[in-house]
Amino acid sequence: MPPSTDSRDAPLYRQLAALYEQAIAAGSLTPGMRMPSVRELCQRHQVSLTTALQVLRHLESLGCVEARERVGYFVREPGDLALPRAREPELHEPLAHDPRVFAGINERISGFLEKARRAGPLPLDLGSAMPAPSLFDSAALNRLAHGLLREQPDILVYGPSAPTTHPDFQQAMARHALTFGVCIAPGDIGATLGNSEAVNLALDAVAEPGDVIAVESPTFFGILQAIEVRGLRALEIPCSPHTGMSLEALELAARNEPRLKGVVVVPHLQMPQGSVMPDAHKERLVALCVEYGMALIEDDIYREFVESPHVLRPAKAWDRQGDAGQVIYCASLSKSFAPGLRQGWMSAGRWQARVQMIKFARTRNMQTWSQLLAARSVDSPAYERHMRRMRAQLRIQREQAARAVARYFPAGTRLSLPPGGLSLWLELPQGISSTRLYDDALHNGIRVAPGPMFSNTGRYEHFLRLSCGMPFTAQVEAGYRTLGALMAAQLAEQPAAVRRAA
Ligand SMILES: Cc1ncc(COP(=O)(O)O)c(C=O)c1O
Repeated sequence: MPPSTDSRDAPLYRQLAALYEQAIAAGSLTPGMRMPSVRELCQRHQVSLTTALQVLRHLESLGCVEARERVGYFVREPGDLALPRAREPELHEPLAHDPRVFAGINERISGFLEKARRAGPLPLDLGSAMPAPSLFDSAALNRLAHGLLREQPDILVYGPSAPTTHPDFQQAMARHALTFGVCIAPGDIGATLGNSEAVNLALDAVAEPGDVIAVESPTFFGILQAIEVRGLRALEIPCSPHTGMSLEALELAARNEPRLKGVVVVPHLQMPQGSVMPDAHKERLVALCVEYGMALIEDDIYREFVESPHVLRPAKAWDRQGDAGQVIYCASLSKSFAPGLRQGWMSAGRWQARVQMIKFARTRNMQTWSQLLAARSVDSPAYERHMRRMRAQLRIQREQAARAVARYFPAGTRLSLPPGGLSLWLELPQGISSTRLYDDALHNGIRVAPGPMFSNTGRYEHFLRLSCGMPFTAQVEAGYRTLGALMAAQLAEQPAAVRRAA
């Protein structure tokens, strides 16, 4: 694979990463070899710890090296992924600022969901970004639940009213936040119904109909839906599949759009691209939001899924605390602990009182039950052990899925293997319609997530998100083979001239 060409104008970490990428391509660094540690890179190149770490993370996002927890970074086996990597988009400007791009996502999502509903129960769901039930520690959850019911038989009466969050949950999440470098007073933590309610409340608190919210492009469709139902307008900002939102494009938008009230980002394993935002970008993003008076709504649902030898800090770690807080931090245990509990949480900085008021007016008391279960679990050493197991299993599944893509999908399919998480984001050869693939796959008993679910700009028609949350069984492999055949059939229908141009 040819090394990416980072020019001398590129940031220092990119220049150094390009050097190591070339060394790997040339065979000076061979598969399985340990990469220099962060400290060695600092000494060798006279750079800061942050830059050294960015070098390794960037190489990881390019698929050249892999992180092994508590050990360091290693050169990857070639052929692990015989696919071209995801392309960097044109990063400098916000995407089409056109009234037509502000509406329609809810109808489109409902259309896809309705088709799936009509298709009935499907044998293979590659569309939902969800770990398989076998990846959760249901025995531990059952023990915890029984213990809690024995100890507090009246737990199902109304919990605390306004403010609605249980103090034990606040304490546990405040301690949990400290483990990833964020200091939040327990009283500033609010329980929510999943991450979704947290983001919805944040939008309610910071904007009113007609206002503009900047989002990553592509982004999780739930964010676009929440923006649209409020009569807000989503402004899509280009996103690197490796480092996340383009801050240049965001700054341009902030300068030119007076109604831009907030930015929503998923800094860790951005959905759907899987990028991880470097720390220096997080710091600059917070500074930009402070400078232009925009709220930073941070959806941090996937932080614990990143494979990293270091603890990752969210953008909230660079925020000032309390009243001055510009970052609304949102997270949930839906993917990591127990999806059915719908236990999310948030800390809304200077919008905290407003968020609490809206929350109480809307939903009043929260369930004590799920808050206490979540609090006890997150606060135990077993939780980190469980997450380590989950990350290791998901990594095997992602790699198996990626190899199946390389084996069965048409030539020209692009993929950058993300450094963690539950899904793969694929660029298919031009001319393939993922909307049509969605229909064809449903007819074959397979559900996928087509690119147009993740944007209102129409630019992801030939993109596809596939879940790797479930173990890679023979049935899953057969599903990949079928998808490959369906795409080959689409390509075969095209005139030869179009195929050559693609
Ligand atoms: C980026 C992102 N945020 C939020 C959610 C939903 O979170 P929850 O189920 O906790 O509401 C998802 C689920 O797919 C997601 O991918």
